[in-house]
Amino acid sequence: TYIVNDSCIACKYTDCVEVCPVDCFYEGENMLVIHPDECIDCGVCEPECPADAIRPDTEPDMEKWVEFNRKYSEMWPVIITKKEQLPDAEEHDGEEGKLEKYFS
Ligand code: SF4
Ligand code: F3S
Repeated sequence: TYIVNDSCIACKYTDCVEVCPVDCFYEGENMLVIHPDECIDCGVCEPECPADAIRPDTEPDMEKWVEFNRKYSEMWPVIITKKEQLPDAEEHDGEEGKLEKYFS
């Protein structure tokens, strides 16, 4: 599966949702997540994210992000259409410690 990590937080560009063939992105207030059981591992969303927030779970130490994505994808509504990025997206792109600072 692929997951969305904290690089999405406070950016939420949403380019990713346009390309997903199975519509498995779910939307929170300031980030998206992928449902790990619905993702078919096609990989097309990964290069679409300007914030480089989408990673394969084959990278090291991904278990926490898989569980994070699973938890919130079961609570949040699906998103299938691109929308405006968050107002200060560019400013927050690449910033450290976003989970602690902004996640809500
Ligand atoms: Fe959707 Fe493919 Fe990305 Fe999984 S890897 S979230 S199926 S676009
Ligand atoms: Fe987030 Fe990147 Fe999608 S910033 S909304 S994972 S395009």
